[in-house]
Amino acid sequence: MRKKLVVLTGAGMSAESGISTFRDAGGLWERYPVEQVATPEGYARDPELVIRFYNERRKQLLDVKPNHGHEVIAGLEQFMDVTVVTQNVDNLHERAGSTKVIHLHGELTKVCSSRDPNDARYIKELKPEAYEVKMGDLAGDGSQLRPFIVWFGEPVPNIEVAAETVMAADCFVVVGTSLNVYPAAGLLHYVRPGTPAYLIDPNEVVVPSGCRVTVIRKGASEGMDELREILLGDKRFVQ
Ligand code: OAD
Repeated sequence: MRKKLVVLTGAGMSAESGISTFRDAGGLWERYPVEQVATPEGYARDPELVIRFYNERRKQLLDVKPNHGHEVIAGLEQFMDVTVVTQNVDNLHERAGSTKVIHLHGELTKVCSSRDPNDARYIKELKPEAYEVKMGDLAGDGSQLRPFIVWFGEPVPNIEVAAETVMAADCFVVVGTSLNVYPAAGLLHYVRPGTPAYLIDPNEVVVPSGCRVTVIRKGASEGMDELREILLGDKRFVQ
C-alpha cells in the first residue's frame, strides 16, 4: 500500500505564483483591515465592500498559475497517497493536478448563502467567465450570495476530516504558513509520535510547543524539490 503524505499549506505556497501572503511586510492584512473583510461583523456592516474585495481576489486567479512547488506536490501522487490540507482559498493545488485537497478556509471560486454558509444546497461553483458577484445576486434561500470563505470567528467545518487525515499520515509536511491561525496550526498536534515531519519556509516559523519538525529553510519550489529527493530516496516512504 502506498504511504500517506499529508501536506499542510498556507499563503507562502502561492507566493511564488504572485499571490500576496497575509502577514509578511506588504501582506494583504496590511493593506485591508482584517476586521473589515474577513469577519462576519465586517460583512454585516458593509457587505458591498466585502463582496468587492473577494471579487478582486477571484479575478486575480485568472492571472496567476500554479508554481513549481504546487506541481511537485501534485507529481508526488505518482509515488505516494498525497492529501493536501490547505488554508489557501485559491485553486492552484487543483490546477496543478492534486486530486485530494481539503480546504480549511473555504474556496474563492465558490459562493454560498449568507444565512447559512455551510448549507450544501446553496454552495455554488462560479465559472471563470462569471466570477463577479453583485449585490442582489441571491442564493436559493433568498439571501445575498456571499463568498464561500471561512471568516475569523466562524467554525471551520473541515477541521475534523483534516485532523483524521493528519493522524493517518506516514509523513507530514508544512509549507508556507506562519502557523498563526488556529485551529489549522493545531493540526501539528495530530501527527502521530515518531512520524517524520518537515517544515518548508524561507523565514523562521514558531511551531506549537511539543511538535518536532525538520526545517527546510527555503521557498516553496526549492524546498519541495529538496523534500521530493528526501522522500524518493527513503524506503520508509517509497518502495
Ligand atoms: P501568513 O501570511 O501568516 O504566512 C505566510 C508564510 O509564508 C510565512 O511564514 C512566510 O515566511 C512564508 N513564505 C513567504 N514566502 C514564501 C515562499 N516563497 N515559499 C514558502 N513560504 C513562504 O499566511 P498563512 O499562515 O497562510 O485566513 O495564514 C493563515 C490564515 O490567516 C489564512 O488562511 C487567512 C489568514 O488570515 C483567512 O482568511 C480565514
